[in-house]
Amino acid sequence: MQFRDSKLETSGNIIGFFEREFYVFSNFSSFQVEWCGRTWQTSEHAYQASHFFETDPDLVEQIHKAKSAHDAYKIAKANKDKVPKNWEDIKIPIMEDIIRNKVEQNPYVLHKLLQTENKLIIEDSPYDDFWGWGENRTGRNELGKIWMKIREELYQQKTKDNYLSQSTNKERKILITGGAGFIGTNFIYYMLKKYPNYKIVNLDKLTYAGNLKNLESLQDNPNYTFIKGDICNEEDVKKAMKDCDWVVHFAAESHVDRSIMDPDTFIRTNILGTNVLLRIAKELGIKRFHHISTDEVFGELGADGKFHELMAYNPRSPYSSSKAASDHLVCAYFHTFGLPITISNCSNNYGPYQFPEKLIPLFATNLIEDKKIPLYGDGLNIRDWIHVDDHSSAVDLILHEGKIGETYCVGGDSEKTNLEITHLILNYFNKGEEMIERVPDRRGHDRRYAIDFSKIKNELGWEPKINFEDGIKETLKWYKENINWWKEIKSGEYLEYYEKQYINRK
Ligand SMILES: NC(=O)c1ccc[n+]([C@@H]2O[C@H](COP(=O)([O-])OP(=O)(O)OC[C@H]3O[C@@H](n4cnc5c(N)ncnc54)[C@H](O)[C@@H]3O)[C@@H](O)[C@H]2O)c1
Repeated sequence: MQFRDSKLETSGNIIGFFEREFYVFSNFSSFQVEWCGRTWQTSEHAYQASHFFETDPDLVEQIHKAKSAHDAYKIAKANKDKVPKNWEDIKIPIMEDIIRNKVEQNPYVLHKLLQTENKLIIEDSPYDDFWGWGENRTGRNELGKIWMKIREELYQQKTKDNYLSQSTNKERKILITGGAGFIGTNFIYYMLKKYPNYKIVNLDKLTYAGNLKNLESLQDNPNYTFIKGDICNEEDVKKAMKDCDWVVHFAAESHVDRSIMDPDTFIRTNILGTNVLLRIAKELGIKRFHHISTDEVFGELGADGKFHELMAYNPRSPYSSSKAASDHLVCAYFHTFGLPITISNCSNNYGPYQFPEKLIPLFATNLIEDKKIPLYGDGLNIRDWIHVDDHSSAVDLILHEGKIGETYCVGGDSEKTNLEITHLILNYFNKGEEMIERVPDRRGHDRRYAIDFSKIKNELGWEPKINFEDGIKETLKWYKENINWWKEIKSGEYLEYYEKQYINRK
């Protein structure tokens, strides 16, 4: 806006805050608030309706239904004569109560408020010099004062962390789809450890990639239930989703090479299966549907630049196309049906329990077995690697503090060529370059992926914590110490696939 100092540039998000000596809040108008027994679209609706609680219930109804905050304001303004006489005395406590409810009900708003620390908060309305900053910045800024008062109370009551944990001590039942796969398994362990009051239901078809052994140690955990079923099957989904508060959707066909051999399975599970989940989630009134997606939906990058949330989708393999389609469906259920969704697009994960067809476990387990390692093309394809626990912490934060309807890009800040990774693994196992076996490149092999995760960093305060060099060593150690886990997998169907993929193509 023109009246702002040029040195005070906004972050460009709807809240528009300055990381300088003060923060400017809009009134978080896109957040609903439950107040006085009703759900109001915005705090403006609640505030304007409150003018008429005592005097005109019809006007309260009209304002409740008003399409926008501005319309709510217009109705109230046109009916000034019905405002009670003591209004001037009660309007600040009323507004304070509404804002306090809003902060308590929206973890994202709470997070943003606490993020302002002790800076001055200014309401940035140039039109209203009672509630806002006013045109010439001489206004009373009453709303800003309310935000600061609530913030002060929060800090005095408890530490920031204590307060945040309040919203996570609730009991919740979460459906995880694809929990017997690599990331799902790690996420289930992460969540059960962190949230003793959460119940997890894991719906998994147990394809070649799903392995119940991963979760054997949870057999007697009362907070964990496994249901074998297909996300494409309505009955399976209804049974698993019953009484759940949230859904975190991992289940997918996930391997690019397999999608080149057999695209149909990818279309079925990734697109049709996601649609079944969304439809049932809508029917059952699921409070949050979080969709796990990939950075591959954005296509490939040249030497510069990074993927970000506003980038156009440009998927290039049957796998990434099917994931892109599922992302679009998830967004469509938000815009068309109001299903409360969030999406994360994450870069390449590494860590324990990854099926040994993917680069890191494939190379590690081959070298342990003294087999050669098949490197595609020149090995100079670049991926951004993230430890699976960092991915889990990002999803956890988005679930608790993310904004409904938003997509968050998640990355590890660790761009590496496949050749670099290969050398790292060779070094770890004390093997030489002679173990590398060059194989013809994958068709349509994307050259470079990289993620700009500044949105989740700035808005939710998330950053990857596990340094790649430490994470990879710990991961390779895990494969060294868990030979039984992968030996069993690297047989049967896996051998057939391996031959088709690497041996028969030479
Ligand atoms: N691995 C990565 O680096 C990465 C990166 C970004 C995003 N992702 C996404 O994360 C999710 C999980 O990836 P992953 O690497 O853990 O995959 P994975 O292949 O290891 O696991 C997939 C799981 O889904 C299950 N599944 C497959 N089809 C199913 C169906 N029809 N019904 C029920 N369950 C079914 C499988 O049995 C398996 O347990 C996927 O959606 C993937 O697109 C993965």
